[in-house]
Amino acid sequence: MASNTRPLAIVTGASSGIGYELAKCCAEEGFDLLIAADEPEIRQAAGSLQALGVAVQAVQADLATLEGVDKLYAAAQGRPVDGLLANAGRGLGRAFLDQSFDDIRHVVDTNITGTIYLIHKVGNDMRARGQGRILITGSIAGYMPGTYQAVYNGTKAFLDSFSVALKHELNDSGVTVTCLMPGPTETEFFERADMMDTKVGQQKKDDPADVARTGFKAMMKGETDVVAGVKNKLQTAVASVTPADMLAEQHRKMAEPGTGKQKERGQDG
Ligand SMILES: NC(=O)c1ccc[n+]([C@@H]2O[C@H](COP(=O)([O-])OP(=O)(O)OC[C@H]3O[C@@H](n4cnc5c(N)ncnc54)[C@H](OP(=O)(O)O)[C@@H]3O)[C@@H](O)[C@H]2O)c1
Repeated sequence: MASNTRPLAIVTGASSGIGYELAKCCAEEGFDLLIAADEPEIRQAAGSLQALGVAVQAVQADLATLEGVDKLYAAAQGRPVDGLLANAGRGLGRAFLDQSFDDIRHVVDTNITGTIYLIHKVGNDMRARGQGRILITGSIAGYMPGTYQAVYNGTKAFLDSFSVALKHELNDSGVTVTCLMPGPTETEFFERADMMDTKVGQQKKDDPADVARTGFKAMMKGETDVVAGVKNKLQTAVASVTPADMLAEQHRKMAEPGTGKQKERGQDG
């Protein structure tokens, strides 16, 4: 990307949902954008974000792969990155033994491997410059053993923990690390995770724009972590003192296939 006087933010998973809203927050704050997602829709997102008056470059890459992350990193062409918003992620509902292992691996490789590989590359540049902000989208799911979403919750527990540890390793380096922990949010997430027949898939959810604003503000302040929404804050406080067995059973009630309301007969056409 050509040098500019504006700061640059990389936002992953910016084609929809929380990532798109995070990219919007960055643009409104005057960051140029390098945005990435796996599907061609990332270009449409770039078009909408350009209307906010900043330079936007879109990269289509599978961030579950090291090659995909290399492609995104190379697209910055050495331009210093002021904000890295590592948000791309995917869920996977249903019982672990019934999931395909390819799908399981894609979740782990997107949410963990690709995310920390990108942070490792950009984080090193930031530390060398003594400047930069990193926002990682974890989840309140990281507080609960995720019965019927076991692998996903495990990946988010990893990110929630990793981000705080990294923040402390980077104390006094000029680089901040913040973890955004959303609760259930109205995005394409649950449909993609095949969870639309579950209670959590069907329940009323938070607005992705509100969630993104909460995360963006926390990143700009250099806060360690932030749970989006009062209800979710309460839930994580309670989860911290609740036995894991009890949490796992609570999660079953929200995420087991068929826990959502059945569609009325004939509604499927
Ligand atoms: N929605 C929730 O309830 C919720 C709650 C807590 C945390 N989160 C986290 O929030 C983040 C954003 O999710 P969302 O809710 O906004 O869902 P979303 O609308 O499905 O957005 C996910 C974004 O990540 C991208 N992505 C997924 N896998 C990718 C891959 N392998 N390579 C490149 N891009 C990839 C998607 O792009 P493509 O379409 O191109 O794949 C999309 O842009 C995720 O990390 C998720 O775990 C969500």
